[in-house]
Amino acid sequence: MSLSNNQKPTPHVALLPSSGMGHLTPFLRFAGSLAEQNVRVTIITTHPTISLAESQALSHFFSTFPQINPNQLHLLPINDASVNSEDPFYLKYEAIRRSSHFLTPLLSSFSPPLSALVTDMSLASTVIPVTKSLSLPNYILFTSSAKMLTLFVSSHTIIGSKLPNDSDETEEFIRIPGMPPIPKSWIPPPLLSNKPNLLKTHIIENGKMLIQSDGILINTFQNIEHESLAALNDGKVVNGLPKVTPIGPFAPCDFERNKSIAWLDDQPVGSVLYVSFGSRTAMSKEQIRELGDGLVRSGISFLWVVKEKKVDREDELELGEVFGDGFLERVKGKGLVVKNWVRQEEVMEHKAIGGFLSHCGWNSLTEAVWHGVPVLAWPQHGDQKMNAFVVERIGLGMWVEDWGWGGGERVVRSGKIGEKVREMMGNELLREQAGKVKEEARRAVGDGGSSKKGLIELIEIWNKFIP
Ligand code: UDX
Repeated sequence: MSLSNNQKPTPHVALLPSSGMGHLTPFLRFAGSLAEQNVRVTIITTHPTISLAESQALSHFFSTFPQINPNQLHLLPINDASVNSEDPFYLKYEAIRRSSHFLTPLLSSFSPPLSALVTDMSLASTVIPVTKSLSLPNYILFTSSAKMLTLFVSSHTIIGSKLPNDSDETEEFIRIPGMPPIPKSWIPPPLLSNKPNLLKTHIIENGKMLIQSDGILINTFQNIEHESLAALNDGKVVNGLPKVTPIGPFAPCDFERNKSIAWLDDQPVGSVLYVSFGSRTAMSKEQIRELGDGLVRSGISFLWVVKEKKVDREDELELGEVFGDGFLERVKGKGLVVKNWVRQEEVMEHKAIGGFLSHCGWNSLTEAVWHGVPVLAWPQHGDQKMNAFVVERIGLGMWVEDWGWGGGERVVRSGKIGEKVREMMGNELLREQAGKVKEEARRAVGDGGSSKKGLIELIEIWNKFIP
């Protein structure tokens, strides 16, 4: 039993994120929300897969929430030389799978004892059997949209099959509960493939295992995904799925200011386009050059984060080589190019930002929602096309290219990019809607809001599990 300042017993909960910033970030924000509600939190992660960006995020997190002490970070050892693969996807899941035998003693050793373990969806099939054997309540935190969760949990039934009496169903579209028919091109190709592959196996195995969890938490809120949330909770997607509780969007941590911010301080309100493709996605050299030219042609000021390194494939590109002679000279005065990384939260909340050209990672989009920033959607792979669909439906964004072709598969030329940037930045309706969505998001997590109620109900349940 853990005691807070007023000596009331509080639950102690462990969080087990998957690796990668797109997964660690929402877990840390969730940990922050729990800490604010006096819940004791321990974070478990793997060693040595943890990256520099991840360890920086963790140290920043611990300094933002002094009530959570760095001793409450547990690294699972995976010093297993037999994990020998070039494939980061394989390494990521194999790391946890191979650490799972360390989990049983770790989870039973905590003091005060745990009331629950919250696990990333991608680790469900590895971790749920462990928590079952310990009779420890297990919750899943799904870090993408409710639409993506619907796809994942129903993928073993819908993928590759056509629904017989469904007249809307054509070869190019697929019907998933809680949403209109969606183009097949939005679904990650390995899921549609008839050949066995690691991604498909993982998603199907994890999706099936969710039925055995005690609850599913999701970083979204009612106003932006009510149809999908209703479908998930009405049993229309999978019978026996535990309750799906939206508790987002997760509020960001506070950051200290840096030099990109000094540049933004000098720009007029709402004038700058922020351009970033998340923590993993890197474009081809040809596409980067087209994008650079397109941004200059748009005549709109921009803050553009360009990765020197493709995170998934470790081939480095020098900025000079990417841009070619004179490019950086040409952008001077029209925009700011930053290498590799900015503190996105800090950028997004700046009053100079008027739009976001994004790859549509779910965290980036929930940040755009939170700060009321219109989105120019350029989804590349994974969940990103489905996420782009969510922002389009709520009127927060438009696609850089017609959604039909699917994005990421061919080079988008600079003329098109410049035109779309101008169109999005000049679209008053998007701005108005962005302001409304921002208010709705803040209401959802504020006192009495739908997501806040979900969080409080969850903690009440955990209170009953205090050993
Ligand atoms: C991955 C997938 O690509 C994404 O589609 C999925 O929804 C989550 O996992 P990632 O591509 O990194 O994530 O995108 P995103 O979900 O947007 O997460 C990136 C996080 O890193 C965001 O919280 C963003 O604020 C942060 N970030 C990214 C920075 O702080 N600075 C950067 O320069 C880039």
